[in-house]
This record gives sequence, structure tokens and C-alpha cells, in this order.
Amino acid sequence: MTNDSRLRMLTGLQPSGDLHIGNYFGALAPFLTMAKEHETFLMVADYHALTSVKDGNLLRQNIYNIVRDYLAVGVDPNEVTLFRQSDNSDHMELGWVLNCMVTVPFLMQGHSYKDKVAKGLEANAGLFTYPMLMAADIVLYNTDVVPVGEDQRQHLEYTREAVTKFNNNYGDILKEPKEAIMKSVGVVPGTDGQKMSKSYKNTIPLFGSREDIQKAVMSIVTDSAGDRPQNVYDIHTLFKSESELNTLYENNAGKYKNLKEALVEDIDQFISPMRELRDSISDQDVINVLQVGAKKARAVSHETLERVRDVIGINL
Ligand code: ADP
Ligand code: TRP
Repeated sequence: MTNDSRLRMLTGLQPSGDLHIGNYFGALAPFLTMAKEHETFLMVADYHALTSVKDGNLLRQNIYNIVRDYLAVGVDPNEVTLFRQSDNSDHMELGWVLNCMVTVPFLMQGHSYKDKVAKGLEANAGLFTYPMLMAADIVLYNTDVVPVGEDQRQHLEYTREAVTKFNNNYGDILKEPKEAIMKSVGVVPGTDGQKMSKSYKNTIPLFGSREDIQKAVMSIVTDSAGDRPQNVYDIHTLFKSESELNTLYENNAGKYKNLKEALVEDIDQFISPMRELRDSISDQDVINVLQVGAKKARAVSHETLERVRDVIGINL
């Protein structure tokens, strides 16, 4: 047990590619705000990433990258328990137990699974049981609140369902978590107008060079009729107030190229301090932070898992 009286929050991101601004506004920024008021756990969901990343060198690199990303956006490892899912085998173990609580038809209704398969991703069994590993990630730490983007809402419902089934059978052992969804941001659109997602290749990279940002912004689809390129405007609202934008867009009515250049400038200004900090973080810094985090994480999750092992009849 820790002595912290604040509510506990936990969230995770998969190290399955470069972060984009949808991840930042949908997950990282709300997380940083909430971290000030909560006892916080931040997890690198590297085993979840195995559902889509099948190249060892790439996964390893992605793990280094995401920890750097977290540190660069302002996560303080002295305040936050920053750790890797794979450094704590309790996740795998509880994930299995929770898989045994839910049915195949229930998992088949998962939006995330259905969407990913519809988009052509391989329907591997890990992708299918993904929600129960995520449920384990959450409940191992007796988490009160999980800050996520709108697309993860159903995963929290699935977590509660698994917890309910477990507790109905074994007694009140696992804590039911709640999601915290940043309503003000909702879903950040990508360069093609649909949800920004690395799977759809429509992203604006969070730590891209100015050239990378330029390339992504110039590719924003602007087929809307009228003076205002709506897809550009929608992304721009993340970086500038509505009143500033209205002036800018009125002064540049119909001049899509100017507006895109203004967006590149605003994104670049926003990102450059974080990009510099990120460049200063070494691989060894990452390893050191993860070692400390793993130790803190295991100390908490072992207690939960022991209670689970007791009631399911595994502890003799
Ligand atoms: P992707 O869709 O690119 O694969 P992930 O599924 O790994 O992104 O999402 C990581 C986190 O970022 C999640 O909490 C998710 O809700 C959030 N997120 C991802 N894309 C967006 C978006 N376009 N708008 C808002 N939040 C997002
Ligand atoms: N499924 C989440 C995503 O794709 C990542 C994740 C894994 C997560 N485990 C978690 C998020 C636990 C919150 C809590 O974004």
C-alpha cells in the first residue's frame, strides 16, 4: 500500500509508432493536467503493441521512443510511476484470469477489434483479447480513474464488466475503474478528416521536424466548398483561440495555402521546446527511469494479484 490519499489514476499508450497530435491532445495533455491531482501510474503498453508490431528491433526502438516522448512532454518520473507492462508479469497473469471471466461473443462486439479488422489489420487472438489485458493493466493497481480518448470508452466498459463478473463470483476483490474523457477535445481529426490514427496514416507527428509537419499539413484534404478549409480549421483550433482563428481565416478567405502555412508555423512553435528536450534524453536515461518505475509498479500489483490468487484457488 502507498500512503497517498489522492485518487489513483493510470493510463497507458502503446509504443507502436510515433506519437501524433491526436495522442497529445486526446491522451497526453489531459493526462498531464490530471497528474497534478492524482497518484499517477503511466504505463508503456508494449505487450499490447505486439498485436500489431512484429519486428523486434522496431518494437525496442518504439519503447525507447515513447519513454522519451513522455519525458519530453513533461512527465516527471519522480512524481509519476512510469513503467513498462512487460516489466511486470502480473499483467499477463491477471489478463489470463480475466479472459476466463468473459465470453467470446462479448469480445466479438468490441468496437476497437471490429474497426481494426475492418481496416485490414490481422485478426490475431491477441487483438481479440486485448480488452482483458487492458482490464488487467487497470485493476492491478486498484485504479480509480483512467484518462483516455473517446475511442477507449468501450474498453473501460469491458473492464467494469470483467470486474463485475469476477467480483460476483469471488467476492469484492477488484476495484471498478472510471474513465475520464476530455470532452473539450474529443476526437482529433486527421489529415483526411477521419479520426487521426497511426493505423490510417493520416497523422501529424508530435515530434516531427518542421519538414515532417509541413508535409503532413500540406496533405490535409481540403475539398470543402467555400472560403474556409474546414479540415485545416478543425486542427488549427487545437493551437489557437477561436477569435484569433476567425480573424486569420477571414483575412485569408479562400487562400488555403496561406492558412496551411499558418498552421505549420503554429504547430512548429508549439512543438519545438519539447522536441529539444527530447533530443537530450539518452537510452540509459530511459533504462534508469523504467527500472525505478518497474519496482514501484510491482510492489502495488503484487498485492492485488495475491488476493486474486487466493480467491481463485491457485494459492495453496
Ligand atoms: P492510434 O489510433 O494512432 O493507433 P492509439 O490507439 O495508440 O492511437 O491511441 C493512444 C491514445 O491516444 C488513446 O488514449 C487514444 O484515445 C488517444 N487518441 C488517439 N487518436 C486520437 C484522436 N484522433 N483524437 C483523440 N484522442 C486520440
Ligand atoms: N488501449 C489503449 C490505447 O490503445 C492503451 C492501453 C493499454 C491503456 N492498457 C491501458 C490505456 C490501460 C489506459 C489504461 O490507447
